[in-house]
Amino acid sequence: MPETVKTVLAESQLPRHWYNINADLPEPLAPVLNPQTHEPVTPDDLAPIFPRAVIEQEMSTEREIGIPGPVRDAYRQWRPTPLYRARRLEHALQTPARIYYKYEGVSPAGSHKPNTAIPQAFYNHAEGVRRITTETGAGQWGSSLALAGAMFELEIAVYMVRVSYEQKPYRRAFMESFGAHCIASPSDTTAAGRAVLAEHPDSTGSLGIAISEAVELAAEREDTKYALGSVLNHVLLHQTVAGLEAQVQLEMVDDYPDMVIGCTGGGSNFAGLAFPFLGEQLRGGRKVDFVAVEPAACPTLTRGRFAYDWGDTGHLTPLTKMHTLGSGFVPPGFHAGGLRYHGMAPQVSHLTALGYIRPRAYGQLECFAAGLEFARAEGIIPAPEANHAVKATIDEAIRCREAGESKALLFNLCGHGHFDMQAYTDYLAGRLSDEHTSDAEQAMALSGLPQV
Ligand SMILES: Cc1ncc(COP(=O)(O)O)c(C=O)c1O
Repeated sequence: MPETVKTVLAESQLPRHWYNINADLPEPLAPVLNPQTHEPVTPDDLAPIFPRAVIEQEMSTEREIGIPGPVRDAYRQWRPTPLYRARRLEHALQTPARIYYKYEGVSPAGSHKPNTAIPQAFYNHAEGVRRITTETGAGQWGSSLALAGAMFELEIAVYMVRVSYEQKPYRRAFMESFGAHCIASPSDTTAAGRAVLAEHPDSTGSLGIAISEAVELAAEREDTKYALGSVLNHVLLHQTVAGLEAQVQLEMVDDYPDMVIGCTGGGSNFAGLAFPFLGEQLRGGRKVDFVAVEPAACPTLTRGRFAYDWGDTGHLTPLTKMHTLGSGFVPPGFHAGGLRYHGMAPQVSHLTALGYIRPRAYGQLECFAAGLEFARAEGIIPAPEANHAVKATIDEAIRCREAGESKALLFNLCGHGHFDMQAYTDYLAGRLSDEHTSDAEQAMALSGLPQV
């Protein structure tokens, strides 16, 4: 019998619930605060921008939250996703490590983001919302919400970080193909965008700015809500569908990960894969090494401060306790657009502060090199974001080779790079460099943290 490469599940094995790590946290999360009163936010504070069902999930401590039937039906278009054993990469690296990856690039939008776009669109539609606004960095999230909008008959308006809007015209075409409206941010369509442009007319934008624009629009209109593609508890919750499937798939091949690895922009693909395993550990199960990998040019977990901060640049969002580089931080225009966010999911930050997650940062050049090594062995070109996870996995596999250790490594191949060919073209032509932010720039952005 040839050795198995892909472990696939039947559609009937699609999980019936998501996993909520809030049920198993050793200490509860710090409360989210109202930015005006600094009191914990209430569901009513959030009601102008999110549907009720999403607000309930955001605050829930139930361990299992059922996946509604219409969401499972939509998931079935591409889920369950395959779990690959990276046999060709293992061979190329001559490593005794067992490398597994959960391939989320098989979704119609090419990444893990539809895992939360679909339920968010469903809940909005069920509560009579007509339009959703959002931001997008790399374009993956905007594409996913555009797809979900088409599936649940919603108008979608996407503020796309200007640098990505210019680098990735096909992402815009993708969103428009599904009927969404895509605007380069900062834009002159909102007060938040106009304020940035007045000070920095050539601003390349950031997720923090684009979030301000999208939230502003949602807060203005009764029939419009806002959707976020990462960071918040409900987003991480929806992403656990990947980790729950991976648990069953690894059981089928009689293995268990020693290390779980994911890239982190806002924390959702990492958490989606890691939290079901971390939950098992917190309930007395096996100890796993959880590695969150971020870009050295936007080093939220490795160099940021664990403090209350705004989620956006225009200071319209509540205050959350998270690792942050400061809401005024504008990262350099490197290619992993989805990792250019100043903050981090509060759940990922909290578990990092408690010592359950080990963060690590890499420069983009070493990540592209790792991505190509992976692509040439496995035949899949990863999204530049995912290359960060690939790099950490290859490093660990080499360490295993040197130590003669056979560990099971599981990482989230959270997206393919088919819309990122300009990035690969630039890398192959030697046009990319590693940009770092200075301590002074970082200190300046952190000096604007709110006094809580
Ligand atoms: C392919 C891909 N990976 C990772 C990310 C980062 O987000 P998160 O950390 O929430 O998974 C993004 C965000 O846009 C993305 O598009």
